[in-house]
Amino acid sequence: MGFYADHVFPYLMDWTMGTRRFRELRQQSLASARGSVLEIGFGTGLNLPHYPDTVTELTVIDPAVLLPTKVAKRIASAAMLVQVAHLSAETLPFEDGRFDCVVSTWALCTIPNAVAALREVRRVLKPEGTYLFLEHGRSDDAGVAAWQDRLNPIQQKIGCGCNLNRPIDALVREAGLHVHHLERFVFSGVPRIVGEMYRGTATAARAESA
Ligand SMILES: C[S@@+](CC[C@H](N)C(=O)[O-])C[C@H]1O[C@@H](n2cnc3c(N)ncnc32)[C@H](O)[C@@H]1O
Repeated sequence: MGFYADHVFPYLMDWTMGTRRFRELRQQSLASARGSVLEIGFGTGLNLPHYPDTVTELTVIDPAVLLPTKVAKRIASAAMLVQVAHLSAETLPFEDGRFDCVVSTWALCTIPNAVAALREVRRVLKPEGTYLFLEHGRSDDAGVAAWQDRLNPIQQKIGCGCNLNRPIDALVREAGLHVHHLERFVFSGVPRIVGEMYRGTATAARAESA
């Protein structure tokens, strides 16, 4: 992957995404996680301390091996058993309906085929299970979105595949998931092109939708 991707970017990502505001958002989003949970695009394990004790087992996947010593320590201090697999979210090796809950935080921006990954999320969720997402993506403001489109090629380079301009809720729906709750807000303190947040819940089976 190259020196920057292997030895610089993981530290930058871990540092910038581990600040207090990120921690608060992680905690809020993960508060309703329960049962058997799958996290896709696990990264450096920054969500681990925020899983509530309603989570009985946690499986995490990411194709990259990032900061292995630091991540091993985080896993060792996690409150629940954590199983790690280095694989892509687009093709998951789990049986249909395996998980009570699937989580992604700031991962759909980078997963190359986000809709394929979300179709897998739908497949591996139990019918009554919940997908919890906390993501950044395309702005509803046309001026901001135009800048996101312009700067996306640069972001893909400096963010190791990260896209600024993905319409997250549309991708979730395109994969056949049913969105029950969706909150849009701008993360203060970062440029707006990276601060357009999508936080929500979705299910594989249809119920009353938002
Ligand atoms: C911006 S990081 C976010 C990490 C973590 N979710 C967090 O909240 O700190 C995006 C993550 O997506 C992962 N990723 C890239 N391609 C992927 C794929 N095909 N399947 C699953 N994860 C992938 C990257 O390796 C990286 O760890």
